[in-house]
Amino acid sequence: MNVQAFDLRDDDRRPPVDDLVGIVQRGLRARPKRLPSWLFYDERGSQLFEAICEQPEYYLTRCEIALMAAHAGEMAEVLGEDVRLVEYGSGSALKTQMLLAHMHAPVSYVPVEISTEPLRLCVQDLAVRFPQLPVQALHSDFTRALRLPIPPRAPRRTVLYFPGSTIGNFDARDATSLLRKMRGEMGDNGGILIGADLKKDTATIEAAYNDKAGVTAEFTLNMLVRLNREIGSDFDLGAFRHRSHYNAMAGRIETFLVSARDQRVRVGRQSVPFAHDEAMQVEYSCKYSPADFAALAGKAGLEVIRAWTDPQGMFAVYYLMRAGTRARLAQ
Ligand code: TRP
Repeated sequence: MNVQAFDLRDDDRRPPVDDLVGIVQRGLRARPKRLPSWLFYDERGSQLFEAICEQPEYYLTRCEIALMAAHAGEMAEVLGEDVRLVEYGSGSALKTQMLLAHMHAPVSYVPVEISTEPLRLCVQDLAVRFPQLPVQALHSDFTRALRLPIPPRAPRRTVLYFPGSTIGNFDARDATSLLRKMRGEMGDNGGILIGADLKKDTATIEAAYNDKAGVTAEFTLNMLVRLNREIGSDFDLGAFRHRSHYNAMAGRIETFLVSARDQRVRVGRQSVPFAHDEAMQVEYSCKYSPADFAALAGKAGLEVIRAWTDPQGMFAVYYLMRAGTRARLAQ
């Protein structure tokens, strides 16, 4: 199917190849070296991420789905009627379907996704399960200011759905500015339904990012496969290793690609040296206690209206609105 055939709004303002070389070169000049984590999500990376979600050690997805199974009805109740639901990074949108099944007369569903194929599949799936629901796909990077498509009728409120603990993949400053951006996009009366992983024992968290089958390692290394293909770099895939460890002080998983030997890698016109055991940072996954999360929301001018967690305290879903809403509603 041609992408246009499903009314895909291409709001894709990602950098062209020349810029990509520059972005990678700049990241490799930093100390420690780093690569931006959006590079994970090419077609293959998105597939591998779906596979990570099915690994027994990766509790996040299972726990969030269990939370949806238990509480989606209540969540839909809190969101109310005539909602426009905008999803940040829709992927396969399984959790969204659980939510939509309970929502009352949703105005439209707007999946925002950087990767074309998952977006196409998501739209196709929804057309089968929810034939009445207007779907307005937006092919875009959700960290940018979004041009949301005009809804088919006036919504009572816009709710931004951001599951998967993806907010944890931004450091505190970026997470705050992303939430601030979302606060603007949802408007005065809008809301944010957001999933975030909870702090817990180190062993459980580390196992989730070092699955035995090696899917996460393949996912991490796929970033280099992608760069070799797209910018013609010559990363030796056998000479870099995946490493994820939990930094309990900072409350986050830190994922690195580690050089297995002294080597040089060609990136554009540059030849970049890597020392044996040098770690290149590719992703953080911050873990928030409910109090941490409320504080983060507060910094973005938001407040927690409701929180859902499982009895084991594995994962949390929060409903946020603009700060002061609760007091205003109580009047
Ligand atoms: N949002 C996911 C998370 O933080 C992304 C992710 C899962 C990930 N596994 C990973 C990112 C491994 C980097 C490396 O849990």
